[in-house]
Amino acid sequence: MKKIFSGIQPSGTLTLGNYLGAMRQFVELQNNNDCYFCIVDQHAITVPQEPKELKDNIRSLAALYLASGIDASKSTLFIQSEVPAHTELSWMLQSMTYMGELERMTQFKDKSDGRDAVSSALFTYPSLMAADILLYDTEVVPVGDDQTQHLELTRNLAERFNNRFGNTFVVPEIQIPKVGARIMSLQEPTKKMSKSDENLRGFISMLDTPKQIEKKIKSATTDSEGIVKFDQENKPGISNLLTILSSCTGKNISELETEYENSGYGDFKGDVAIAVQNLLEPIQIRYKELIESDELDLILDAGAKKASKQANVTLNRSKEKMGLKR
Ligand code: AMP
Ligand code: TRP
Repeated sequence: MKKIFSGIQPSGTLTLGNYLGAMRQFVELQNNNDCYFCIVDQHAITVPQEPKELKDNIRSLAALYLASGIDASKSTLFIQSEVPAHTELSWMLQSMTYMGELERMTQFKDKSDGRDAVSSALFTYPSLMAADILLYDTEVVPVGDDQTQHLELTRNLAERFNNRFGNTFVVPEIQIPKVGARIMSLQEPTKKMSKSDENLRGFISMLDTPKQIEKKIKSATTDSEGIVKFDQENKPGISNLLTILSSCTGKNISELETEYENSGYGDFKGDVAIAVQNLLEPIQIRYKELIESDELDLILDAGAKKASKQANVTLNRSKEKMGLKR
């Protein structure tokens, strides 16, 4: 039984990439581990958010976690801003994070690129993420592979703190899924699928209708070779669709290559669309029941209470070590 922590930002509806890269692993892990899953709303405000939309997105993400199979009797589900220990520890960790380390973060470079006004919180975002993880004595962090650099920084901060002030934090390990760790944009298959993509056909939302799913997959960028084969470099579009089909059906890629040896891209795309529809349909049905329910609020209240209790123990221990308070 391990301590597991992961977080997802409530910024727009989740994509198929979020589900295959992150959420699906959470559901498996909760059966024999002590899991904390967080709606990281304070990470979301590092870029401008409309208050009403943010509130709706927080609730929607909570419902999606549960609809995807997170079971509140096994896992702790909570909202980051309801547990103040996160921002408190984040400040302490910022005092030990170097500017150079933050400047090297590719997510910061991507998200700040081309913006006129970049908040200082977007820059210090990784210190808050480290606080999220370290507060729960986390041993394993399941994420998509875009988070590798943030996890490496978290490990460095934990070790730095321990070396300077004595053993305080558990140094966490990253866990990345074997297939689906990086689902790419349907339109630009060399970029990761992202809910903030301006090209709406680039990503599949977990709440897209079957028609929308079919349309988006049918218009996905491919190549002119006409052969269904995995070749990330020369055939990024087809490779991405193969990854999606493999993740949805559990069949491995070489099995799928044989299966579609004599098929054209049209038939292949049709089957990818059906596989995605079948995957998302039961989640969407459960989501609709949950989104308006009081059950959701009860789960989040209990989650915040349980998370706070655990987080405050670690927060007090680290304050003590640093020499804060009386
Ligand atoms: P975010 O939406 O940035 O809060 O990401 C939440 C989780 O989804 C993180 O673990 C990410 O690594 C994962 N994730 C986001 N986009 C993708 C993608 N295109 N493929 C695989 N995993 C992803
Ligand atoms: N940075 C993550 C992302 O963009 C979200 C996140 C915040 C997170 N805190 C976390 C993920 C802690 C894992 C653990 O996807």
